Amino acid sequence: MRFGALTLTSNLFLSPLAGYTNLPFRLVLRELGGLGLATTDLVNARSLVEKKAKALKLIETSPADRPLAVQLFGAVPEEMRDAAVYLESLGVASVDINMGCPVRKVVRIGGGSAMMTELDKTAHLVKSMVDAVKIPVTAKMRLGWDENNITAPDLARALEDVGVAAIFVHGRTRAQGFGGVVNLAGIRKVVEAVRGIPVIGNGDVISPEAAKAMIDESGCAGISAGRGAFYNPWIFQHTLHYLKTGTLLPEPSFEERVRVMLRHLDLMIEVFGELHGCRMFRKVAPWYSKRFGPANEFNKSVVQVTGRSEFLEILGRYRSWRAQFLDETGELKSRFRPAPMVASFMQSPGSAPGGHIAVPKGPVEVW
Ligand SMILES: Cc1cc2nc3c(=O)[nH]c(=O)nc-3n(C[C@H](O)[C@H](O)[C@H](O)COP(=O)(O)O)c2cc1C
Repeated sequence: MRFGALTLTSNLFLSPLAGYTNLPFRLVLRELGGLGLATTDLVNARSLVEKKAKALKLIETSPADRPLAVQLFGAVPEEMRDAAVYLESLGVASVDINMGCPVRKVVRIGGGSAMMTELDKTAHLVKSMVDAVKIPVTAKMRLGWDENNITAPDLARALEDVGVAAIFVHGRTRAQGFGGVVNLAGIRKVVEAVRGIPVIGNGDVISPEAAKAMIDESGCAGISAGRGAFYNPWIFQHTLHYLKTGTLLPEPSFEERVRVMLRHLDLMIEVFGELHGCRMFRKVAPWYSKRFGPANEFNKSVVQVTGRSEFLEILGRYRSWRAQFLDETGELKSRFRPAPMVASFMQSPGSAPGGHIAVPKGPVEVW
């Protein structure tokens, strides 16, 4: 997998999740393996150029956190360009542009002059970045406003023309939000619109099988997972294995999930300090526990945690409580096992409903 001159070890990517894709989470994923390129949360270009503390914290990295992409957003070409130049000087591997969600008034005109004006404006902004750096510049978008206004193919093509090295596309429209089915045919339209650059599919990739289905059905060159990586940090390792061998690795055990969760907590404490790290971890731990089986006891306490030793106490109490759901071999009794995760685009009519993929809290309407 190549983005311009950048060669990546796999075609599997981490999608930006503001508030979540920080250094500790990226390191956890990298230690588990399979990930080709990880990204930061989105960063305001102006804040970065002005070296605001909050923006600098968002791009905090370490030698083990390579290769790293930083996602920028902004509408002022000079600020986006200068932010890209600054990131290149820091050794960042690529810069991703958050294209935001399409605006109704632009697309409602029906692909007319407003759309073209918008495309020209965007292309100008992106070109100023591409021309200023040697590292690849990529772009992330949705399919369009709604199913009657699929703008991503034209946008992708226009961006390729000004030198963008790859396109990430979330296979939903703005109108869909995070509901409905990810549209693989829509992703295919983007794949067909570009001439040579890789298009990376995104949306609901929550299992190795979902990754393969998205690649096979849309023709995309790779996949990007956001929430799937949160549910299952092993997703990249397992998907890489599945794409290479056609066989599925077993689901991680409860003990392995706990091990990785504690590693994640320790990295949070290292990067953010014990109190702040633990506070941030209050919204992270419940994602791990979604696959623990019954976990109310854990979730109830973990949302109050303030320190590492307290976290260990909570975990200890939870282990004792959880014992009632286990059989004699120490496995969850079958009726307590969480349903397998099934991507929206893999649910066949009449099949048993799979695990539901939640939307974390945040201003998600803009993504
Ligand atoms: C909490 C949350 C935060 C997100 N933050 C960003 C972001 O900063 N930039 C971005 O381009 N997309 C963002 N997204 C969208 C994701 O990158 C991704 O496109 C979307 O969640 C679909 O992929 P998934 O099903 O693998 O999560 C966010 C999504 C969620 C749920």
